[in-house]
Amino acid sequence: MKEIKKNVFYIGVQDWDRRLFDELIPLPDGTSYNSYLIIGNEKIALIDTADPSKETEFLHKLKVSGIERIDYIISNHAEQDHSGLIPKVVELYPEAKIIANKKGKEMLIDLLQIPEDKFIIINDGEKISLGGKTLEFIFAPWVHWPETMLTYLLEDKILFTCDLFGSHLATSKLFAEEDNKVYEAAKRYYAEIMMPFRANIRNHLKKIENYEIDIIAPSHGPVYNKPNFILNAYKEWISDNVKEEVILPFISMHGSTRAMVEYFIDALIKRGMIVKPFNLTKTDIGELAISLVDASTMVIASPTVLTGPHPHILSVVYLVNLLRPKLKYFSVIGSYGWGRRMFEMIKNMLTNLKVEIIEPVIIKGYPKENDFKLLDKLADEIINKNKKGG
Ligand code: FEO
Repeated sequence: MKEIKKNVFYIGVQDWDRRLFDELIPLPDGTSYNSYLIIGNEKIALIDTADPSKETEFLHKLKVSGIERIDYIISNHAEQDHSGLIPKVVELYPEAKIIANKKGKEMLIDLLQIPEDKFIIINDGEKISLGGKTLEFIFAPWVHWPETMLTYLLEDKILFTCDLFGSHLATSKLFAEEDNKVYEAAKRYYAEIMMPFRANIRNHLKKIENYEIDIIAPSHGPVYNKPNFILNAYKEWISDNVKEEVILPFISMHGSTRAMVEYFIDALIKRGMIVKPFNLTKTDIGELAISLVDASTMVIASPTVLTGPHPHILSVVYLVNLLRPKLKYFSVIGSYGWGRRMFEMIKNMLTNLKVEIIEPVIIKGYPKENDFKLLDKLADEIINKNKKGG
């Protein structure tokens, strides 16, 4: 246990070598499941638990902590990486009551089959006293599930945010350094988990503006004892500002699309545009997600498999549509042999994005002189639209 403030302890567990979350999201830096113990004069509360894969370590930490009882288990979020060990904690401390909102209770019962009489339901803004330590519950739905909430410890000015402001970063340091490593890990986390809920997060940031916050204590990654570092980063990410950058995910099977991609990259660079290509057979999709947080433009490059895009391209287009980045412009380049439904299939998948589609360049076979001219034209159009769009 590490003391954050007097009688407020961090009892997180580092997952140094976990490399995948949700069987989808790459974790190059591992992750952590942070839990917090708050000891009041009358009551003891535990905020969130840890992933069930870390049962031994987490329960050991509780056992050696010296506490003889837990009165409240606060569940800020019902996802199992934070709630999964609640049933085990209840077994160890049978007098403990679980504090959750109504939606959280329903989800915890569905996911973990916890008996109904173990719960205390709280409302938005409600407070409970532990004796000298007061907890206020701030509802913050959709970061990234419908039941999510924050818990504010009034006397110590600590905001416990669970996934919000989190990062998949295993570290032995309790407090976040203000460096690129922490920034990138937090941005990756935002991109993969929070970006679809930008509008909700904007409202929640407004809501917490009225709170004096000394420390932000998320349930993944390091704790922020200089909260402006992460608050300012979030303000930028959720803003409507975009950077003049072209994100270019591509695949090529026999070299035709690759020839187009290489020419197009040069065409954009010559015109002063920043371009970020991602070969989807090799790329970490987290890197791609990070690049989408503030880019203005995406161009997908795909060969044609039978009549449509390469299946890996479809998977990425599906993901981009789910992530709802603030892209403004979109286009497609690629090559075909006989089937020509690639562009239509990609375009039809972009139901969540408010992008202006720029005329695609889909050519037959290997690119010829006139095809390269079309790529120059596309590059010009992207530059012009970005300049006009500010
Ligand atoms: Fe870290 Fe949504 O769980």
